[in-house]
Formats: sequence, C-alpha cells, structure tokens
Amino acid sequence: MAYILGVDIGTSGTKTVLFDENGTAMASATYEYPLYTPQNGYAEQDPGDWWNATVQGISDVIRESGAPASEIKGIGLSGQMHGLVMLDRECRVIRKSIIWCDQRTSAEVGEITDKVGHDRLVEITANPAITGFTAAKIMWVKNNEPQNYERCRHILLPKDYIRFMLTGEFATEVSDASGMQLLDIPKRQWSDEVLEKLGIDKSLLAKVYESPEITGTVTKQVAELTGLAEGTPVVGGAGDNAAAAVGTGVVTDGTAFTTIGSSGVVFAHTSDISIDKKGRVHTFCCAVPNCWHVMGVTQSAGLSLKWFRDNLCWSEMETAINMGVDPYYLTDKAAMEVPIGANRLLYMPYLNGERTPHLDPNARGAFIGLSTMHKKKDMIRAVMEGVSYSLRDCVEVMREMNINVSDMMACGGGGTSPLWRQMLADLYGCPVKTTQNKEGPALGVALLAAVGTGIYSSVPEACKAVIKEDKIQNPIKENTEKYEKVYALYKKLYPAMKETFAELAKL
Ligand code: XUL
Repeated sequence: MAYILGVDIGTSGTKTVLFDENGTAMASATYEYPLYTPQNGYAEQDPGDWWNATVQGISDVIRESGAPASEIKGIGLSGQMHGLVMLDRECRVIRKSIIWCDQRTSAEVGEITDKVGHDRLVEITANPAITGFTAAKIMWVKNNEPQNYERCRHILLPKDYIRFMLTGEFATEVSDASGMQLLDIPKRQWSDEVLEKLGIDKSLLAKVYESPEITGTVTKQVAELTGLAEGTPVVGGAGDNAAAAVGTGVVTDGTAFTTIGSSGVVFAHTSDISIDKKGRVHTFCCAVPNCWHVMGVTQSAGLSLKWFRDNLCWSEMETAINMGVDPYYLTDKAAMEVPIGANRLLYMPYLNGERTPHLDPNARGAFIGLSTMHKKKDMIRAVMEGVSYSLRDCVEVMREMNINVSDMMACGGGGTSPLWRQMLADLYGCPVKTTQNKEGPALGVALLAAVGTGIYSSVPEACKAVIKEDKIQNPIKENTEKYEKVYALYKKLYPAMKETFAELAKL
C-alpha cells in the first residue's frame, strides 16, 4: 500500500496527516504555537515554531500509523498564505515572520500603487495592493528595518520555508506565490515589471513550480530527525485555500466552496482567468495546472462567533464543559430558537476591517437594531446571519463576473454547523454540501503529492477517486424569501457607516 503525507502550516497550529493512497487518514497530529502581537495591528510568528511542529507531527504520524517510511511516496505542503520569511546568507531566519493578518502596511500599499499604477497592478497581479499581501510586507521591512533588508538573501512563504528545511531547496508554487503580489497571474511567473518598479531583486525569490510538480527531496539529516526516508519527494503543494479546494473536490468549472474558519472564504474554480477590476475579490492561480480561482474573503467569519463566545458566553462555555460538548453546539442550539432576521437585529462582521466587497481596513463590527427585548440567543443568531450576508456579498461579486457558483461545498469549523450551512444554502439559492473526509487542506496537498509521484494522472482524477460527498442541504424557498428582505437592509449598512468608520479610526 502506498502512503501520502499532507502537512498544513496553519495560523493556530500545524496539522500533519498520513493518508493511504485512497485518501483514508491513517494518523494525524496537530501542534499549536503562539501568535505574537507586539503592537496593535501587528501579527507575527516564529518560523522555528512551524518547523518544530512539523518535525514533531511527521515523527508522530509515522510512529502511530506504523507505515514503513519507504512506502510514503510523497509529501505535500499547505499553509497560511502571504507571510514573509527572510533568510540571511547562512540561511538563518532574520526576523519573525510578518503574517497574513498583519495590518501595518497601509503606507506601503500607497507606495506600491503609486510605483506600479493601480490599473497595471491589477492587470499583472490580478489584485489591487492589499495590506495583507507579501509585497507590502517586504516594502515595510525595506522602509523600516533597512539593516534587515540589507542582510536578506532569500524570501520565502511559510510553507516554502518548511520545504527549504525539508529539502534544502528554495522553491514555491503558483497558488501561494499568487498571494505575494509579485507574480504575473495570467502568465504564472514572477513579474519582472513589478519587481523592477518596487526595487526587489528577483534573485531573492524562490523558483516557481506548478502545484503537483516535485520540487525537491527529503535530506538525510531530516530523514534521521523525522523517520522519513531520505529522498522522499516533496511536491509544490498549495496555499491553504487552494489546498482546501483540492481536498473538497473543487477542481472543475462550476464548483465552489465556502469555508468558515477564523476568516471566511468563498472560492470558485475557473479555467478561464477572470479579474474583478474593482479588486473586490482575489484572482489567484489554483493548484490545478493552467487554472485559476476567484476568492472572496470575509476577514472575521468564525472569528466573529468566537469573539462573541469568548467575551459573552462564559456560562455556555461552562455548561459545555460539564456536558462534554463543544460550546458551539450550544450556541447553535440557542440560535435555532430564534426566527430568521434575529427579531430585527443585524450584525456587521467587520471586527478586523473587511476585504470583500469593501476593501476597508477601517471598517469595524456593529449590532444594529438592539432592543430591550433581545436576548443573547438573538445576538448569536444575528452574528451567524451577519457572517452569512457577508459571504453572500462574495457570491454576488462572482455572479457579477459571470462565474457560475452552482455547486457549493462547505468546510472549516463553521461548515460543521447544520444551521450555518442552511443559512448559506438559503442565501446562495443553491445546495450546500459537505465531504465525508474532513481533512481539507492536508488531504488536498497529499493528493497533489499523489499526482506528482504518479499515483494518479491528474488532480481532477485524484479528486474523483478519493473525495466523497456527504450531507446536502437544499435552499428552502420560504427561508430565502425572508433572508432576502433582511439582506437588502444589511447591504445598506456599510455605505451608511463608511465615513463614521474612517473618523473612528482617526480618534
Ligand atoms: C487568504 C488569507 C487567509 C490565509 C490564512 O488570502 O489571507 O486565508 O491564507 O489562512
């Protein structure tokens, strides 16, 4: 039996899963690590923590599964996108990684737009300049820590740093590289024009591969450290969302998925490149060679409910511990007791600014319509509905771009809630499905490894063989009619509040 390994370097932890060639998980290990916030709006992590979590995870799954190392045919890497890892001449990490949700780079966003030109930037990188993307982080280090920039010899993304540690190779792949804002997205190669205009030396960047291609092999030293066999191939892999797409079978036109994790993402596959000139959704290369995806992002999706739970649901948390259930089981039950529209209560989920469709780092969260009649359960329902309206906003932009989203998978923590999935089905007006396998990105990149090492001949073929659909929820007509009325009101909230958010940010 052949085995394949998927490693997903996430924001809260690294998940390592060993699968057999049919996609059955044989063993899984997750190691968590801290997020550093040295100042308001900053977000950093230590690449050494990612590496330790990877070594421990790989050693664990090999030991627990009992799989012979020689039968592990390939490794796929997935990870949080956009993070900046800088290495010096001796390949030592220069500073902590500035990660995807860090918001310190507003000045650099202006600088990039001025230097490249808004329209040209969208033409080449398929996106306007964004605080979260890697280019702005590189420019920030250049502007604010020139001594660190001087020492830098290699720039890598989080999962590509792990690849370097596993194989000694400086390599990346198109899906993650898309989020650096230095890639020519239509041509799937570094953009000389953008690099030149920003004054970034191309030799700092890694070689770009397609996601299923082999980028290197495990070194002798790593083999001794982990129990892997020396020479095990490591394929390109994919950024976390492109990896989740493969792991949920979203690899052909018409298919899409919604994930409700900390952030919420609506991701649609497309074999024809399609760019939103207003920059409300991202267009990135996807893990299927010569295809792309369009992606809308709600910055605080599951995070909105987590914030509410952590700050206002202490008694529910305690009850959940006593009952031995997940606190979200109780918040779901409470929300189910409330009718659609949360008794005329609306929630704007912009706790940490918003990407789709407003692209506004100053936007903030709000409850609108609070009355003495409202109880905590109304607020919980309003939070879940507000996040769903924001995800519907993403789908609206895609429909405007003529991208067909008729087949929707749901994943992430929030995707396990039947209530949340029904809200999405009612608001999208299409069935929302889940998959039997819940390993998402780790399975996605393990399948890319299976393709790269010849177990399957293409990504769609691997998905067809392995991904099995589970529950389906269809839209309910009378629910849709009710939600449409509330959604129409929700859409009026941001334009009414935009100026207030900007002024609030200046206080
Ligand atoms: C995508 C994005 C997040 C990160 C972290 O653009 O910023 O999904 O990849 O998971």
